[in-house]
Amino acid sequence: MIFAMPGNEAMANAVARLAGAERGKAEMRRFPDGETYVRVLSDVRGKSTDIVCTLARPDAQIVGLFLLAGALREWGAVHVRLIAPYLAYLRQDQHFQPGESLSAAHFARLISMHFDSLVTVDPHLHRIKTLAEVYPIPARAAQSAPLIGAWIRAHVQRPILIGPDSESRQWVAGAAHAAGGEYLVLEKTRHGDRAVELAWPATSQPLGRTPVIVDDIVSSGETLARVAEGLAARGFAKPVAALVHALLDDDAYAKLSQICAGVVSTDAVAHASNAISIAELLV
Ligand code: R5P
Repeated sequence: MIFAMPGNEAMANAVARLAGAERGKAEMRRFPDGETYVRVLSDVRGKSTDIVCTLARPDAQIVGLFLLAGALREWGAVHVRLIAPYLAYLRQDQHFQPGESLSAAHFARLISMHFDSLVTVDPHLHRIKTLAEVYPIPARAAQSAPLIGAWIRAHVQRPILIGPDSESRQWVAGAAHAAGGEYLVLEKTRHGDRAVELAWPATSQPLGRTPVIVDDIVSSGETLARVAEGLAARGFAKPVAALVHALLDDDAYAKLSQICAGVVSTDAVAHASNAISIAELLV
């Protein structure tokens, strides 16, 4: 039985339909003081349950998510799984400064206290190599690269895919394989939340190709903006941006829409740029 956290109804409906599963109902609202009220309305006794919750704005959702998982168990669910098309808190995967929280590990422990298992798409694994390093529960990561590559193959003539940083190789290589194009991976140095510097390989020549920037997360949009500038400086055409998790706000989206020939994303995070469905991948 598939439940949806508020805002995840469309994905939960699609997953339930494709999986031939029931859609569970729950009431969730805020008390006047801001606390979350949760009530499970479906009979979950003996059932294996899933909660669909993309964690794009995790801090606002996490207490309600844990309360719903707890309520499902209280009322008899035998398995409570999280389907998180975007899994948050993986970027702070080491101590960069003294005194910092290793939030990737703490968040993984919290999720694992409340769920029996986890399914996600393209988690941001970099210095942590597998989810099993930080998630003690069974955690499965599906890859959207074949879907992104298929979209590029269908919509872009003579593509060359660009990955902005070393960790993007895992996404860009798979997408390039499916798209039937070449790819370049840049080196990124991050100086702050909105300050990044890129190093380009000497072989970056346009040769009549259409650049497609492939990245797993776009948040401030600064990384993509620097790649687009670097492409323009090297004589490339305006790029297409193909993203897994569109975390960008309206301002960043408006800015990127100006500097890119197109911005598309998977529906792992609901956004105006969504063009590639991952529901079947989750199923
Ligand atoms: C970082 O390693 C990710 O792959 C993205 O490149 C990054 O999160 C993008 O962030 P922003 O859009 O804020 O530059």
